[in-house]
Amino acid sequence: MSATATAQRPSSTAGEERQALSAMAFVSDTVTLSRVSADLFNMTLGKANVREGTIDNALAISEWPRDLDLLIVDIGNTGDPVADAAALKTAVPGTSLVIGVGRINDVALYRDLLAVGFNDYLAMPFAEGTMARAVERALEARERTGGAVVQNAAVAKDAKPRTLSVLGARGGVGTTTAAVTIAAMLGTRLQEEVLLIDFDLHYGSLMLALDLEAIDALREALDQPDRIDALFIQQVAQKKSEYLYAMGAEEPPTGGFQARPHAASDFLRSFHRRFRWIVADVPRGDPVIQRQVLEASSDILLITDLSLPGVRDAMRLQQMVHEVAPGARLHVATSGAVDVRRSAVKVADVERTLKRKVDCQIPADAGAALSAINFGKPLSEAAPGSGIVKALRPLVASLDSPKSGGAGGGGIGGASIAQKASGLLGRFGQGLKKK
Ligand SMILES: Nc1ncnc2c1ncn2[C@@H]1O[C@H](COP(=O)(O)OP(=O)(O)O)[C@@H](O)[C@H]1O
Ligand SMILES: [Mg+2]
Repeated sequence: MSATATAQRPSSTAGEERQALSAMAFVSDTVTLSRVSADLFNMTLGKANVREGTIDNALAISEWPRDLDLLIVDIGNTGDPVADAAALKTAVPGTSLVIGVGRINDVALYRDLLAVGFNDYLAMPFAEGTMARAVERALEARERTGGAVVQNAAVAKDAKPRTLSVLGARGGVGTTTAAVTIAAMLGTRLQEEVLLIDFDLHYGSLMLALDLEAIDALREALDQPDRIDALFIQQVAQKKSEYLYAMGAEEPPTGGFQARPHAASDFLRSFHRRFRWIVADVPRGDPVIQRQVLEASSDILLITDLSLPGVRDAMRLQQMVHEVAPGARLHVATSGAVDVRRSAVKVADVERTLKRKVDCQIPADAGAALSAINFGKPLSEAAPGSGIVKALRPLVASLDSPKSGGAGGGGIGGASIAQKASGLLGRFGQGLKKK
């Protein structure tokens, strides 16, 4: 057990070199509480927030201080301490060290707690000074092994929440596939947990694509976003891989649902407490939700196929994006899901019609798309060598780069190109202008 004191060096030595830690503790046992409190005093310059309580009290907290460095928590005597520990770990900021304390002295439990991301576990009773040494060890271990990740996360701590909405001009253009793949690639790139949300509560296919379970609670959460707390998020956001979480519903086809105004943005704000990056698969069939999600987005990816109806709808959606989300960055991609050989339209036509450049041409790769489905994994994991992944890479990189151009940014000079639009596609521009 790690409670064994190994470091003989007084804990204050290194503590003085560091800035004061921001720390919280929930401990049920009063003797342990006072020892922990005494140990934390130096490292926190007397500012530790130490309370009598257990992991239950910690799980009830919906908003954690984003700069929390250290959480000490009594795992209590619940039936499943490891599940509670996992829940807590997903709720607190990723940069926080978490050290458990408890009455159970068992190596298996210790290992399980480390496996869900706890940094250490001390069995009570323990002497004064023991916790200080455990904290020192955890800090040192983090500096040794997790430096890069911690640094990334520290940058992320101050960064603004971002929602990328992925929107298809038509059904079947590969919207869901792109949303999943981009979210997975983004998480891996940033080493940061990304949440995918399928906003098609009735017919969404995102959870199926990832072989995860749809949940019922999503609709209620949209109705009452103020009730979303850390525990709820832990229950509904299902972990697919280290950096990828997803959630989606399967509302009965008959159940009508009218979201109240701003439901989606309140909902997204609640989830942003836990996830800086959210990728939304936006339904085409529900104009209310569609509009609300777009309004709340910092980034929007519009995917069109190379067909006449596709380009027409891409243009109409582009117009809507300019209206409802003028501050968002709009990215445009062409689909690989629909056979290009049967397409009436060329990429240059799309660019002329939308009066901007296409940021990404997603190639067709039926084999990769199929293996993603067969494995129930993001395409970037099922077929990492696919041209689809390669094509999406610059887009993913641009998502987390400093703002370069706003909605419609990266567009190619409008007027002269618009004049060249002729034939079939020329109709669209004129039709719109007349409105
Ligand atoms: N780039 C691609 N190349 C080949 N097939 C693709 C590609 N992207 C998606 N697909 C396939 O096209 C179908 C529709 O994809 P999906 O992502 O569900 O589209 P949407 O969400 O727009 O309806 C799926 O069978 C998917 O595997
Ligand atoms: Mg879809």
